[in-house]
Amino acid sequence: MSVSTAMVSGKVTAGIATSHSQRGSVSVNSLTKLFGAVKAVDDVSLSIEPGEFVALLGSSGSGKSTLLMMIAGFGDIMLDGVRINDVPSYRRGFGMVFQSYALFPHMTIAENIAYPLRRRGLRGGDVEREVTKTLKLVALDGYGARLPSQLSGGQQQRVALARALVFRPLLLLMDEPLGALDRKLRQQLQMEIKLIHKEVGSTIIFVTHDQEEALSMADRVAVLERGRLQQLGTPRELYEKPATAFVADFIGEMNFLPVELRQSGGEVCARSPDLGLEVVQEASQVLTSGGGGLLAVRPEYVGLTPDERASAIVLESAYTGTNQSVLVQMGSIRLTARTSVSPGRPLFQSGQRVRIEIDAAHTRVFPPAS
Ligand SMILES: Nc1ncnc2c1ncn2[C@@H]1O[C@H](COP(=O)(O)OP(=O)(O)O)[C@@H](O)[C@H]1O
Ligand SMILES: [Mg+2]
Repeated sequence: MSVSTAMVSGKVTAGIATSHSQRGSVSVNSLTKLFGAVKAVDDVSLSIEPGEFVALLGSSGSGKSTLLMMIAGFGDIMLDGVRINDVPSYRRGFGMVFQSYALFPHMTIAENIAYPLRRRGLRGGDVEREVTKTLKLVALDGYGARLPSQLSGGQQQRVALARALVFRPLLLLMDEPLGALDRKLRQQLQMEIKLIHKEVGSTIIFVTHDQEEALSMADRVAVLERGRLQQLGTPRELYEKPATAFVADFIGEMNFLPVELRQSGGEVCARSPDLGLEVVQEASQVLTSGGGGLLAVRPEYVGLTPDERASAIVLESAYTGTNQSVLVQMGSIRLTARTSVSPGRPLFQSGQRVRIEIDAAHTRVFPPAS
């Protein structure tokens, strides 16, 4: 067994205990955490507005939980000179929900939800009133007297959510809270959590490895890869204006075409001789001086027209009702196109020759993968 030493640097400021920072805001500054040689979190900075719903999205091992725990103040994080990991969780002012429901098995549902209130010194009718209100909020009216073992997984996760919400925290931290549930239940709870967020108004940081979940739930999504923050943006910004080739590839479907790059002044010209395509873009990103790069284009911006004289050929296609996904080959290049299907118009067939048209306005140029 190896023992790793954790090294931490950086700063988290959360507007919970401090009076000068805005209540419910979270800001993270150059946060780094090493486990031995592994950089679990690598120089991450981000700011979250009060009441915002932010998802931390990344594949397994990308550092989501470590970052969330650092924000929660587990680990030696200083909050304006105070080590907030010494502050008991019920006093930190935020709620936490994990994948495992972590309910107290010997306590009833009502007692589980009342627990954070009692730890805060509330007694009697006040507790009862808040518990009843919160049970209603998570749609578990009348379940208060049961034990956790008498509830389904989805219901237990709702109780965990209620327990985290009962004291109206300014900040709610959730680490893959729906990870253990089946698809249908997940989707239902995704909606419910969004509704609850609207009603309660807490700032939410929600960890998930599921891009659909992140995009459909969050106001903004932070994409992590190997501990590094790749991009923090609205779902639409991530989809339409991915900052890195990683994000472009990770979010949705993307074609990457090899292109020649020429940079002059503030502009970059990307050329694909094979496709007879030339795209000029602002050189806001760091690009290599000359040489090759990648042009990214979503399947919905690859247009196909049947043309017997064209050199591109359809390899495969899949019909999905409203759309047809079509894989085409042209020289050494393979591209996926998504075309909308209209009644009466024939579908593309394998072996068919097609002309490819790429909408240059919807492409992004990236430096070659490092
Ligand atoms: N307690 C620990 N000791 C050693 N390595 C750890 C520990 N916790 C996490 N790591 C490593 O840090 C990296 C990030 O882990 P984690 O934050 O759990 O990722 P995620 O939640 O995105 O799956 C991984 O490489 C993981 O193996
Ligand atoms: Mg995790």
